[in-house]
Amino acid sequence: MTKIITVDGPSGSGKGTVSRLLAEKLSFRYLDSGALYRVLSIAAMRRKVDVSNKAELSLIATHMDVIFKTSAQGDFQILLEGENVTSDLRTEDTGALASEIAAYTEVRTALLKRQRLFAQGDGLVADGRDMGTVVFPAADLKIYLTASIEERAKRRHKELIEKGEDVSLRALAEQVAARDERDMKREVSPLVAAEDAIELDTSDMSAKQVLETVLSLTEFKRLE
Ligand code: DC
Repeated sequence: MTKIITVDGPSGSGKGTVSRLLAEKLSFRYLDSGALYRVLSIAAMRRKVDVSNKAELSLIATHMDVIFKTSAQGDFQILLEGENVTSDLRTEDTGALASEIAAYTEVRTALLKRQRLFAQGDGLVADGRDMGTVVFPAADLKIYLTASIEERAKRRHKELIEKGEDVSLRALAEQVAARDERDMKREVSPLVAAEDAIELDTSDMSAKQVLETVLSLTEFKRLE
């Protein structure tokens, strides 16, 4: 049986970093489910599909050729139809579009199967919004990370500046708040902590501290 650890939370809560490091440390597979929604947005834009065309979007979600791979240098890469789209994936525009199309039941259903296929081998760390509530409700350990809007906007700002994108902190805080609102208030699979999730506010914690806390929980649950 594949051991499953889910890490859910809003954008900027630190779930991506901690999930990746956790998977590496435990030699588990890693699912970045947000990347699937993001890659679907890119595929739809490239095919000039209207973002309100649910039927077409779910068709693309089912058939698009996506490969998650780690390069020889250890970088995490995502290929869409053979092309490396990793850097396009992380922009604010792609995130906002992903959040919009993620509200459609048809899209979520189409991506559900793909996500569950990641549960193979010894273990999986699955990062997203509904990993513990919908995709892997029987997970062995469920973590829910939060942080204040100000802190999440600051983290995102630092990331974008490092990548050479120029966005104001205030505009980012507004975007983060708008995305939270959409992700938490949608009808299908809204962002919410599973009843049996362990919640952690990371506002005043470093990535290292979050990782250590989560690792101690995996030890407690004997998941390593
Ligand atoms: O985690 P992220 O920022 O890469 O996710 C981008 C968007 O995709 C997010 O705003 C909402 C959607 N998403 C989702 O609805 N369910 C998931 N499990 C992961 C992401």
